[in-house]
Amino acid sequence: TTGGSDEQKRRAGERAAEAVEDGDVVGLGTGSTAAYAIRALGRAVDDGLDVVGIPTSFDSRQLAREVGVPVRSLEAIEGIDLAIDGADQFDSQLAAIKGGGAAHAREKVVAAAADRLVLVVDPSKSAATLTRSVPLEVLPDARPAVERDVADLGGASTLRRAERKDGPVVTDNGNLVLDCDFGPIDDPGRLASSLASVPGVVEHGLFVGLADAAYVGTDDGVEVRTR
Ligand code: A5P
Repeated sequence: TTGGSDEQKRRAGERAAEAVEDGDVVGLGTGSTAAYAIRALGRAVDDGLDVVGIPTSFDSRQLAREVGVPVRSLEAIEGIDLAIDGADQFDSQLAAIKGGGAAHAREKVVAAAADRLVLVVDPSKSAATLTRSVPLEVLPDARPAVERDVADLGGASTLRRAERKDGPVVTDNGNLVLDCDFGPIDDPGRLASSLASVPGVVEHGLFVGLADAAYVGTDDGVEVRTR
């Protein structure tokens, strides 16, 4: 969880759920804002909406089950109509940094398979230039090599540690997470391609050219931003 108030997040998530149409296959994002969308979808299903959800994480699968959204796995479907997901930071081109919850690898696969990706965010996450650390999901054995490659690209990596365990965060896929500080990111597309070519990086948290809209929950409504 990162960012603004629960009310802002709730407004964004619920508005995105309203964009879901009968018969849609929907990517279910991870994090506190996407969770509001999943809960709202659960209520819509109770009222008769026909949807199938594709979870992006253990948590989004669990929540979908709890609130009654039918789920299927990514490998069982042909395409996704709409993916709804949070972000840790986004810019005016809707480039985003994701992975605060270490779920960005599956989130990106789902986003890429979707006809549309809607980010559900709050104003604290909006930035002229992306500045947050970029999470990398990394094969455990490759960590030292990846750290060296990240340093060559001008970044400083920190292994993400678990809060209630002595040791590192292990992703849903059994990998480690490096949070990589590159300072202000002037060209997110270029950094994204550089990171994608580092061996041992399963996925990085820069989402460039993927989001179609951002629903920004504010204190009195929802602002829709497009590219
Ligand atoms: C999960 O890995 C992230 O990409 C989340 O989508 C992101 O951290 C946003 O979470 P919140 O909505 O809880 O701030």
